[in-house]
Amino acid sequence: MKNIAVLVSGGGTNLQALIDAQGRREIVNGKISIVISSAPGVHALERAQNAGILSCVLDRKNYPSSRAMTVALVEKLKEQSIDVVVMAGFMTIVTKELFEVYNNAVINIHPALIPSFCGKGAYGLHVHEQALAYGVKVSGATVHFVNEECDGGPIILQKAVDVLPDDTPEVLQRRIMEQCEWKLLPQAVSLFCQDRLRVEGRTVRILP
Ligand code: GRF
Repeated sequence: MKNIAVLVSGGGTNLQALIDAQGRREIVNGKISIVISSAPGVHALERAQNAGILSCVLDRKNYPSSRAMTVALVEKLKEQSIDVVVMAGFMTIVTKELFEVYNNAVINIHPALIPSFCGKGAYGLHVHEQALAYGVKVSGATVHFVNEECDGGPIILQKAVDVLPDDTPEVLQRRIMEQCEWKLLPQAVSLFCQDRLRVEGRTVRILP
């Protein structure tokens, strides 16, 4: 059984999708062992508590640098014997100290089809504003391994939805969450926990 840590900073709807999937026994060979928030008082912490999952806060403000916070994070992950780290709306910069220990074992969800609308400044509603401003006809979500390059790690799963003529950033965001993010993230985590993801260069092979 693999121990999963979920890193959050906000509302935690993706965390909830993971908790619900776990309740349906869809996270095969994995267990959410801890939820770590980069800020106190966020709704995601309440979701963890309601599900009886251990949680803690690592507030960036309490550390002199991103590196110092990352070192504290790695310490916490080791203490809980974590095998896989899931970033579910985690808004804090982490440094290489995390990837040195968790190489191809940190998973992130991004609300666009990478390599579109990603990288610096592409977070939250901005992603969907950029997609609408560009006039794309499809957008979606990407689950990928995290490395030092922002939104640049090997892609695990992607799913697309149509962009509709009257979409606002909020409407498109909601469609992508419901139809893509909340499905893809639990699927990817379950595949990881079953040792079914093999990274070959930039390509992630999904084993049967
Ligand atoms: C999601 O859109 C996710 O793709 C992005 O941050 C958002 C987090 O939302 N990385 P939530 O906290 O899971 O509701």
